[in-house]
Amino acid sequence: EKGGHRHFMAKEIAEQPTVLGDALAHYLRGDGIELPAPGLDFADFDRVVMVACGTANYACVVAKYWFEQIAGLTVEVDIASEFRYREPPIPPRTLALFVSQSGETADTLAALRYCEGKASRIASVINVTESSIARESDLVLPIRAGAEIGVASTKAFTCQLTVLFLLALKAAADRSRLEEGELEEHLEAMRRLPGLMNFALAQSTEVAAVAKAVSEARDVLFLGRGSMFPLALEGALKLKEISYIHAEGYASGELKHGPIALVDKTVPVIVMAPTDGLFDKTVSNMQEVMARGGKVLLITDPEGARAAGEGCWKTLIMPEVPGALAPILYALPAQLLAYHAAVAKGTDVDQPRNLAKSVTVE
Ligand code: M6R
Repeated sequence: EKGGHRHFMAKEIAEQPTVLGDALAHYLRGDGIELPAPGLDFADFDRVVMVACGTANYACVVAKYWFEQIAGLTVEVDIASEFRYREPPIPPRTLALFVSQSGETADTLAALRYCEGKASRIASVINVTESSIARESDLVLPIRAGAEIGVASTKAFTCQLTVLFLLALKAAADRSRLEEGELEEHLEAMRRLPGLMNFALAQSTEVAAVAKAVSEARDVLFLGRGSMFPLALEGALKLKEISYIHAEGYASGELKHGPIALVDKTVPVIVMAPTDGLFDKTVSNMQEVMARGGKVLLITDPEGARAAGEGCWKTLIMPEVPGALAPILYALPAQLLAYHAAVAKGTDVDQPRNLAKSVTVE
């Protein structure tokens, strides 16, 4: 049942090119997107509020960058356990969007119920379609990841991102924000993702070697800018939940506002930086870390490694990927790093202590 893998998590990481390819085959028709979203028109909304927990929340934070940049639409993201008790006003023309792998997370379900009768429409991005959140939504967008058994969410995260990206493109189209040929370019890039993911997975052995060293650390920092910031949060969550190593994710620009005080030669600092418009800024933050003796693991593309790899403790090279899609691809080295660090520490990878796959109590 683990398909020859030692853990469900390893199987689920390895499955990503296939499940993502299948999801794309399902949602891309000819040269357009076909989401099961009858009557959904983003011209009807001024605002989207996205609510979720844990990894699903980080998928929403990535999506915020996409919706704002590609569709020019205001997005607020909240964690369900805060949102549900805060009594946030829900103005008219708001789409409320809930993201959940299990569809049973108690706080996310309660947040959805709070929005009933207030939001113009309630949609959910769900893996388990026979679930409470799916049942109570006006509109369900399945991520089609297949059963995810490992407590650490992996393929559900990249499939959530995929559906959210397609949704952001639909929002851009509905709001006439796309230039001639832009949609085709994005879709073409999406179709290349499964192949790029295979390249990333092929580096599992290199990642395992780095993870062995990381597994000896007490604290680890993850840094990213732009849509790589939520990836830094996700990388830290993944590492802490299965290896029990203390890890924090920060926006690179926040480093000098506090966390740089933690940096010394015992703290690995994992910098996730594809060569995009923010690369130079991230590199200058990275150099501040190195100047203080920090051990930097730079995860970047070949051009980034040429430009900034010198002096880093380690470098992991991902294939080049169009900027918007980098968070989907860079999720893989983050998952592999956590996985191999946990294996090196001998923890129970699929059933980490104190955690449940689906959090049905608040
Ligand atoms: O089933 P859900 O997507 O609603 O679950 C949300 C979180 O409990 C979940 O993502 C959790 O953070 C994972 N263990 C992270 O790997």
